[in-house]
Parts: sequence; structure tokens; C-alpha cells
Amino acid sequence: MEFIIYEEQDNIAIITINRSRALNALNSNVLKELDKVLDRVNLDRIRALIITGSGDKSFVAGADISEMHKLTKAEGEVFGKRGNDVFRKLETFPIPVIAAVNGYALGGGCELAMSCDIRICSENAVFGQPETGLGITPGFGGTQRLARLISVGKAKEMIYTARNIKSEEAYRIGLVNGVYPQEELMEQALKMASNIAKNAPIAVRAAKKAINEGLDADMNSAVKIEEVLFGSCFETEDQQEGMAAFLEKRKANPFMNK
Ligand code: CAA
Repeated sequence: MEFIIYEEQDNIAIITINRSRALNALNSNVLKELDKVLDRVNLDRIRALIITGSGDKSFVAGADISEMHKLTKAEGEVFGKRGNDVFRKLETFPIPVIAAVNGYALGGGCELAMSCDIRICSENAVFGQPETGLGITPGFGGTQRLARLISVGKAKEMIYTARNIKSEEAYRIGLVNGVYPQEELMEQALKMASNIAKNAPIAVRAAKKAINEGLDADMNSAVKIEEVLFGSCFETEDQQEGMAAFLEKRKANPFMNK
């Protein structure tokens, strides 16, 4: 792959968007490769995924403006769908995904981070949806996910004014879970990923599904979704070992994803 670096550390996968000459901006080829690499993740073995950008300046500086600037209305819609399809795949990816935002997360970059389950960032990170200043709307999920993640009023302010925000403000409004010095960011992402990976994978994945699907449903349907997923964890080897270890006052054996 030309624009994606894929690595594994034990049961954690790391995807790095690697198009540093354009600050990791997303053109169609980067989106295609991102889509492909997700299919390659071995979900029997890998328990958490980290997404970051190459270099120390930019996570992703947006969708590629040079590719977009000549698009027709119809082509614009197709380009939006391409991004939306990949980001939705990421959002519904069976295992937790952490965005390690190591610099600019603008437009499609902010939207990529918002498609992940959890965002942490470096002190130099800058978030924003600058699209209205370019004559377009956010088009890879920004109008939908930002308003769901932070307050509706704040999301509208960010999108209408196209004002970028720094890491401290992103933390204050709940867009990121933590801010770290650049050199500690990956270490912190890996620490969080390995804390996730220690827990029973079937339960973690069921929890992700319950949260995501429940948020899209009314409360009566949402609790039903939870009940089914809660039930699905029983009779698994990991549930039996986790509970037996508690009752026998011993440390549980490593979970086997069974
Ligand atoms: N698309 C295409 N190329 C980009 C890019 C983008 N989104 N962002 C940066 N680049 C390119 C620049 O054109 C430049 O290339 P050249 O060296 O060939 O000229 C290179 O990356 C380095 O960028 P700068 O020289 O601009 O670097 P800087 O440090 O002066 O500024 C920046 C950094 C503030 C991030 C600035 O690059 C910038 O504003 N980028 C655009 C950010 C943006 O508007 N993103 C939203 C895009 S629209 C979108 O994402 C739509 C959607 O929702 C789907």
C-alpha cells in the first residue's frame, strides 16, 4: 500500500495514514487503501485498533482539496459517499478503535477521528470543520457526528464559523478524552489499547455494538438491544472463567476470545 502503514504489536493493530507531502490529506486512493486495510485486520487475534497520521504535524488535514475542487454536484456526492462508507465501516468495526490525533485534524481528519470510538490527542493538535470556508459542507459525517459528540450548539458554531480549536478546547468540550505531549501520545494510545485488549473480547465487542446501536434507537428498543448482547456473553469460556475467578478469589486466566 502506498498511503497506509499497517503494523501489529501483540494483539493491537496500528494504522498510520501516510501521505505526509499533503499533511496526510485523504484523496480517493487513501480512502480505498483505508477500506482495504480494515478488511485485512485479523479479528480473531487483534483486539483493538489505533489510527494515527505520519509525522508530528498532522493527523489528517482533511479531504484532498486538489481532488475536490473540480468535482460536479454528482461527483461531489459520490466522493462524499466514498468517505462516508469507509468511516461508517470504521465506526461499526467490531473492535474498539482509538484515534491518536497527532496534529491537524481538520475537515475529513476531524471526521475520521470522530468515526473512532475514542480520541486522544497531542498538545499541538488542532480540530476543526473548515468546509464552509471552502464553499462546501462537512461531507464525511461531520454534520452528523460532531453534533452527536459535543453539544449541538457548539457543533453548529464550529461548522458555521469554520473556526479551528486547539487541543485544550477539544478536551474541554469533550471531543477528546485526553491531551498528551506529542512524544507520549502513542505510548498512551497503546496503554489504553492494551487495557482494552486485556478484557474479554466478546464482551468488549458486544459493549461497542450495544452502545452504538442503542444510541441510534429509542430507549425501549435500546434496552432490548442491550439485553440480547448481554445474553450473548453467557456460556462463553471467557464469561465462565471471569466469573469463576471472582468467585474463587483468584486472578482470571487470560481471556481467549471464546
Ligand atoms: N488537501 C490537499 N492538500 C493539502 C490539504 C488538503 N486538505 N491540506 C494540506 N495540503 C497540502 C498543501 O497544499 C501543501 O502542499 P504543497 O506543499 O504541495 O503546496 C502541503 O499539504 C503542506 O500544507 P501547507 O503548506 O498549507 O502547510 P501549513 O503548515 O502552512 O498549513 C494547514 C497547514 C493549516 C493544515 C493547511 O494546510 C490547511 O489549511 N489545509 C487545509 C485544511 C482544510 O481546509 N481541510 C478541510 C478540507 S475539506 C474536507 O475535508 C471536506 C470533507 O468534509 C469531506
